[in-house]
Amino acid sequence: IHNVIFDSSKEASILVAQEIANIIQRKEELNEPCILGLATGSSPIKVYEELVRLHKEEGLSFENVVTFNLDEYYPMDKKDIQSYWYFMHEHLFNHVNILPQNINIPDGNISNEDLQQYCIDYEMKIKAYGGLDFQLLGIGRTGHIGFNEPGSHVNSGTRSITLDHLTRVDAASSFLGIDNVPRKAITMGIGTVKHAKRIVLLGWGISKAEIIKKTIEGEISSRVPATYLQQHNNTTFVLDTEASSELT
Ligand code: F6R
Repeated sequence: IHNVIFDSSKEASILVAQEIANIIQRKEELNEPCILGLATGSSPIKVYEELVRLHKEEGLSFENVVTFNLDEYYPMDKKDIQSYWYFMHEHLFNHVNILPQNINIPDGNISNEDLQQYCIDYEMKIKAYGGLDFQLLGIGRTGHIGFNEPGSHVNSGTRSITLDHLTRVDAASSFLGIDNVPRKAITMGIGTVKHAKRIVLLGWGISKAEIIKKTIEGEISSRVPATYLQQHNNTTFVLDTEASSELT
C-alpha cells in the first residue's frame, strides 16, 4: 500500500476525481467502456462533487462509463432516502450523462429466495466486463471495505452479510436510531475488490485514525478485512492529516 496525505479532504478529493476522469478519457479514446467500482457514505462525497463539476464545466462525458456499486442495505427499497441507490443518484448519477442501463447497484429489494443467485449474477456481470478498472473505497471503523465485516474471506465474492454492531451504531444517526438500521446488506466481496486493476481508499478524520493504522501497519487478517489490500499491488490510501495521525 502506498499512502498520500493531504491537509484537506477537499484538495485530496479533487485529485482522486482527476484520476478517475483520466481513466474515463483514456478508455474513451480506446473506444472501450470504463468500469468503475463505487462507494457511498461520507468519504466519497467530494469526489462525486468534483466529477459532476468536471462534467458540467469541462465536458467530461460518462457515456462510456459502467458502474458497479459496492453495496446496499438489505432489505432496502431504492426509493428510500437511506438507500445507497438514492445516495448515488443524488450525488452523482442525476447530474452526469451516464446511461441508466450502465448503472449497477445491488438490489436491496430482491426476494430472499432469489438473493443467492442475484449475488452470483452481479459478480458474473463484473467479470463479463473484464473486471473493474478502478475501485473507490471508504473504510468502516470495523475495518470493513464495502460491507465486508471482520471474518470475511479473502476470496469472497458478492453475497449477503450481517452488519457488525459498530457499523450499525455508526449508521444510526442517518436512520434516526439504531433500531431502524437494517441488520443485513448485500456487498461485493474482498475477492471482487482485489481483482480491480486500481484501488483508491479514502480516509478522512480522526475517527478513522486507529483503523487506518491497523490496516496499513497491522498483520494481514480477516479480523481487519481491509488489511487484505496489503496484497494488492496498485492500491493507494488517500488520507487527511487526522486520519493519518496514528501512522508511525
Ligand atoms: C459504502 C461502503 C462502506 C463505507 C464505510 C465508511 O458503500 O462501502 O465501506 O465506505 O462504511 O463510511 P463513511 O465514508 O460514511 O465513513
